[in-house]
Amino acid sequence: MSDVASTSPSTSPSSSASFHKADGIDSSRRTWIAITCGVGAVGGAAVAVPFVSTFAPSERARAAGAAVRVDISALQPGEKLTVEWRGKPVWIIRRTPEQLAALAKHDAQLADPKSERKPSELTPEYARNAHRSIKPELFVGVGICTHLGCSPGDKFTPGPQASLPDDWAGGFLCACHGSTFDMAGRVFKNKPAPDNLEVPPHMYVADNVLLIGEDKKA
Ligand code: FES
Repeated sequence: MSDVASTSPSTSPSSSASFHKADGIDSSRRTWIAITCGVGAVGGAAVAVPFVSTFAPSERARAAGAAVRVDISALQPGEKLTVEWRGKPVWIIRRTPEQLAALAKHDAQLADPKSERKPSELTPEYARNAHRSIKPELFVGVGICTHLGCSPGDKFTPGPQASLPDDWAGGFLCACHGSTFDMAGRVFKNKPAPDNLEVPPHMYVADNVLLIGEDKKA
């Protein structure tokens, strides 16, 4: 059983306000993708009928931690889609070749370049690699700063700009207290945020369909 979760577009690149609701694709192109949510354990129609009133409102299931199924087929290089899982914003970013290449160049500036800290909480085994993801180009991460919980803003454009170093390669800025993260959600050294952004459990159930919240095939 599945239904379509509602999302609403962000009207500007994410600022570092505390997270309240998923904000959708944060890119200049602002493409929107419908999200199909479902609980893998829900059986066929014959089983679901007696409980239809229980299962119908997916809000309750999502709040309880149900996995979220996401079609990413329309996500273009350089774009970011935000979905809500367990009340948290989860970012899905299709990184460009340039953004991927930049990841290898600044390990020395990162607090935990190999994602070795709190691995069971922050980085599943399948994301403990140079790009912190299952597929190199697709990053999936929880958009909540590991300092005090603000949602970092997109700073994908490389180069000198306010509040960022001149050699900025693209990533995220948490304007609450100035923490910076690269395009793999890895935190830079000497910032208030102690850790990299969390990579949630996830898996691909088809080439362009992600399941956020589950990472084991039944
Ligand atoms: S909450 Fe992000 S730097 Fe403080």
